[in-house]
Amino acid sequence: MIFVTGGAGFIGSNFVLDWLAQNDEPVVNFDKLTYAGNMNNLATINQDPRHIFVQGDIGDTEHVAALLAEHKPRAIVHFAAESHVDRSIHGPAAFIETNVNGTFGLLEAVRAHWTALPAAEQAAFRFLHVSTDEVYGTLGANDAPFTETTQYAPNSPYSASKAASDHLVRSYHHTYGLPTLTTNCSNNYGPYHFPEKLIPLIITNARAGKPLPIYGDGQQVRDWLYVSDHCAAIRRVLEAGQPGEVYNVGGWNEKANLDVVHVLCDILDKLDPKAAGSYRDQITYVTDRPGHDRRYAIDARKIERELGWKPAETFETGIRKTVQWYLDHQDWVSDVQSGDYLKWVAKNYQERQTTAGVAK
Ligand code: NAD
Ligand code: DAU
Repeated sequence: MIFVTGGAGFIGSNFVLDWLAQNDEPVVNFDKLTYAGNMNNLATINQDPRHIFVQGDIGDTEHVAALLAEHKPRAIVHFAAESHVDRSIHGPAAFIETNVNGTFGLLEAVRAHWTALPAAEQAAFRFLHVSTDEVYGTLGANDAPFTETTQYAPNSPYSASKAASDHLVRSYHHTYGLPTLTTNCSNNYGPYHFPEKLIPLIITNARAGKPLPIYGDGQQVRDWLYVSDHCAAIRRVLEAGQPGEVYNVGGWNEKANLDVVHVLCDILDKLDPKAAGSYRDQITYVTDRPGHDRRYAIDARKIERELGWKPAETFETGIRKTVQWYLDHQDWVSDVQSGDYLKWVAKNYQERQTTAGVAK
């Protein structure tokens, strides 16, 4: 079996659902259930004997060690993290606690477990660390995309904490020989995406008749990847990646934020038209994110060349599926927009000034 951390979050739950849809190998799903963890994401497998859910903290080395001894997984797939850049600006401590100290605690439990395995099981074991393109910092408009050898230059407490975790994972391979794999992926979107992030926030605010907040001038560029493509990349790296190696994962889909918001408004105008006007009328420019990275772009040629992975979805197909998913899952949306979510929205947006709008 495999041991997944953070499998109740956005990407982790998509990964667990896809995994069990494609093969019968059981999953231990270990998740703290922070505000971002949601058992509703896993509702379709809550009676599935191949899915063993355990609530816990990756920093709790003894708890992880006991589970590893009990279940003897052949691999760890490590998603668990604090993941939202804006939250890391308001409160960086949780990011250090989970992303740095938590990853360290997890690595210690895994190292002890792995060291005691027979040689053949040691050789076959994998620790796959799911990381982000944000560790590479920001690009200018004409810079080449990030490769696996781009120098680290994290700019937010979130990306700095992920960079620290990447370095710890690297060191456990070089020092102890733990068979690690690291993936650095670009922005994901798709089902079960928590509506604090741009795409689900815009869809849910649009339908609720609320402002669609654009930070700064809206010309920051992200490289969008449909979440099931990311999950397929992780499965492929787990299957065939070389221990100690890093693989960049991206969608070859660079888009400015404002263009993404326009696409979402236009799809909603077709699928769920307003009584009058366009969803674009709700676009509101607000104070920029401090330290906002201007552009991310991934050079995903290594994983394509060495492992034969490339994305199956285009932005056009993926974004349409995503909007449709949110339209079809209003109960899921209502459930995640609980009291804590409203507190976060108030904290992040009330102190932002509305700025002069650029043409919509
Ligand atoms: P998410 O915030 O939606 O989910 C994180 C999950 O981790 C939640 O279920 C949460 O309960 C759990 N968790 C948090 N702290 C924990 C702890 N101490 N112990 C156990 N579980 C804990 O995040 P996501 O967007 O699904 O991202 C998953 C991973 O992928 C993260 O490591 C993130 O850095 C990375 N990543 C995300 C993106 C993206 O676009 N979302 C892109 C590239 C990489
Ligand atoms: O690049 C990978 C990263 O992508 C992951 O490592 C992170 O976990 C994930 O959250 C994401 O980070 P971003 O900061 O790029 O995603 P977010 O959805 O928060 O923002 C996307 C862009 O939209 C960014 O330029 C900020 C902007 N934005 C965001 C929000 C929430 C707005 O203009 N308005 C908003 O209200």
